[in-house]
Amino acid sequence: MLGKRSKMFFMLSLLALVVAIILAAWGFPKIVSKQIQKNVQLDNSSVMFEKWRKLPMPLTFKVYVFNVTNVEDVNTGARPKLAEIGPYVYKEYRERTILGYGENDTIKYMLKKHFVFDPEASGGLTEDDEITVINFSYMAAILTVQEMMPSLAGVVNQALEQFFSNLNDAFLRVKVKDLFFDGIPVSCSGNHSALGLICGKLKAEAPPTMRPNEDGTGFYFSMFSHMNKTETGPYEMVRGRDDLSELGHIIAYKGKNTMKNFWASDQYCGQLNGSDASIYPPIDENNVPDKLYTFEPEVCRSMFASLMGKTMVYNMTAYHYEVTRDALASKSANPSHKCFCKNNWSGSHDGCLLMGVLNLMPCQGAPAIASLPHFYLASEELLDYFNGGISPDREKHNTYVYLEPVTGVVLKGLRRLQFNIELRNIPSVPQLANVRTGLFPMLWIEEGAELPTAVIEELKESHKLLNYVEAVRWIILAAAILAVLGSGVAAARSGALPIWPRQTNSVSFILSPNANVMDVNKVH
Ligand SMILES: *[C@@H]1O[C@H](CO)[C@@H](O)[C@H](O)[C@H]1NC(C)=O
Ligand SMILES: *[C@@H]1O[C@H](CO)[C@@H](O)[C@H](O)[C@H]1NC(C)=O
Ligand SMILES: *[C@@H]1O[C@H](CO)[C@@H](O)[C@H](O)[C@H]1NC(C)=O
Ligand SMILES: *[C@@H]1O[C@H](CO)[C@@H](O)[C@H](O)[C@H]1NC(C)=O
Ligand SMILES: *[C@@H]1O[C@H](CO)[C@@H](O)[C@H](O)[C@H]1NC(C)=O
Ligand SMILES: *[C@@H]1O[C@H](CO)[C@@H](O)[C@H](O)[C@H]1NC(C)=O
Ligand SMILES: *[C@@H]1O[C@H](CO)[C@@H](O)[C@H](O)[C@H]1NC(C)=O
Ligand SMILES: *[C@@H]1O[C@H](CO)[C@@H](O)[C@H](O)[C@H]1NC(C)=O
Ligand SMILES: *[C@@H]1O[C@H](CO)[C@@H](O)[C@H](O)[C@H]1NC(C)=O
Repeated sequence: MLGKRSKMFFMLSLLALVVAIILAAWGFPKIVSKQIQKNVQLDNSSVMFEKWRKLPMPLTFKVYVFNVTNVEDVNTGARPKLAEIGPYVYKEYRERTILGYGENDTIKYMLKKHFVFDPEASGGLTEDDEITVINFSYMAAILTVQEMMPSLAGVVNQALEQFFSNLNDAFLRVKVKDLFFDGIPVSCSGNHSALGLICGKLKAEAPPTMRPNEDGTGFYFSMFSHMNKTETGPYEMVRGRDDLSELGHIIAYKGKNTMKNFWASDQYCGQLNGSDASIYPPIDENNVPDKLYTFEPEVCRSMFASLMGKTMVYNMTAYHYEVTRDALASKSANPSHKCFCKNNWSGSHDGCLLMGVLNLMPCQGAPAIASLPHFYLASEELLDYFNGGISPDREKHNTYVYLEPVTGVVLKGLRRLQFNIELRNIPSVPQLANVRTGLFPMLWIEEGAELPTAVIEELKESHKLLNYVEAVRWIILAAAILAVLGSGVAAARSGALPIWPRQTNSVSFILSPNANVMDVNKVH
């Protein structure tokens, strides 16, 4: 009688063990990952969705400008001496407008940014500061003209002298706020024949930095006003409801699923990889990706950051990714990057740019060159051009992100980018006849995100919850094992399981801490 019961109990606890093992190995992780998916996927029922649609806190947008301190000397051929001024700090608000949901688990949206100057964070700096920088719009115009019709640069320059008022040299003395957002007026109302050509080209190409003025007789040039309050997109992004590992992946921008028309029709260079840097899928700890891709519409291409390691951020595990030399490799270092070479920026190179600089011409229609600040990770020969003011430093000039693996949330991240343009010696243009040719930086920006404490606390809470779930999983498993052991021993003692050796000391030793299992059994 007793034997039968304990045998039955043994069988039941075996069954319970099987169930516990299935739960521990498959059920719980499945439940947990479903729960996580429910919270991070792009669906209006998820916790993250509203935070993604409208960032709960502004990003910090910092601008550092390179003030040219020896303009007179540069005009006569000296190497430039620069003084970095900054940061001018802006709060950057972001909001998305959902346009709809597409086939294949996608969401379609427009992104709008909005900037507000933050005088406190800027310290003593104000938007009224006067600075001297390379005259970006002038150099862009003259370089474009020289590319199209080299022999006419001198003639066209006369038209440019009407276009740009008081054109003495290639430098711009300007207030910070005009350069960044308000805009510097340029006029199309002169009577030089080439002026119509320039203005017509500008109207046709509509480079983002040139904003037509109110009465259509000219433009305003500014670096960032096109980013303020203007919607960009539409973006089409994977929602992660079908496959969480695809969450955030951008599959189309402005209705196109490749950027290859910017890159000589090359499939590889045109690939849209990764997210818009606002959202990432959770990281599978058994298969941590060694590259993190983002699609950068400003440069019309995908970039990547490489895995640097695992660290603690705000007392949470985080994976650290950083933009490395590989991402900015020139053709010689990474032959598959050769499709990114298109236009010459200087006759002394083979059509490809040096290490660490990106050509914005194909993408933005202006002969601008992007790099990391102070040419960090770029070819060192770029530094020879300067007589001070440029000193690359990993801490100050890198681009990185720290991801929380369970949810894929960005705990901390900085994106930095410098805008440069070539100062070219052109003998037929008086303003450029004596300058030294080189890649001239104008300013660099830093876009940073740091989670507000409330969100950090929320994340920590959910981690605590996960730890409880994890504990429960092991407790259930341990209880099932103990039950099997206990009932097994009981069954063996009562002779129900003949194969079990009968009187061994080790059995009673195992039994003693778990005697209650047998007691319960006996009562019945
Ligand atoms: C969520 O989206 C569905 C369509 O996908 C819509 O019917 C529903 O009204 C939305 N709910 C909220 C709260 O916006
Ligand atoms: C920038 O440099 C010029 C000299 O080239 C100087 O007059 C001006 O005060 C500097 N601007 C700032 C904000 O330091
Ligand atoms: C959805 O996926 C299918 C199969 O992969 C593909 O044929 C179709 O073009 C996709 N639809 C869109 C809108 O991308
Ligand atoms: C951005 O645009 C808004 C509205 O047009 C304006 O109020 C704000 O001052 C602009 N931001 C900057 C930094 O100019
Ligand atoms: C530089 O370019 C601007 C247009 O962006 C023009 O109005 C200005 O006169 C130029 N400055 C100088 C000093 O040549
Ligand atoms: C138009 O051309 C004439 C002669 O070439 C010149 O004298 C005059 O200053 C020009 N007008 C303007 C507005 O530039
Ligand atoms: C896009 O991603 C794939 C793998 O996901 C990679 O092999 C390829 O090099 C990436 N393309 C670019 C342009 O980075
Ligand atoms: C991290 O944890 C340690 C010990 O658990 C604690 O002393 C410290 O204050 C925590 N730091 C933060 C930023 O929460
Ligand atoms: C770049 O410039 C060099 C020298 O001027 C020239 O030989 C080469 O063909 C140019 N390459 C392209 C792609 O324009």
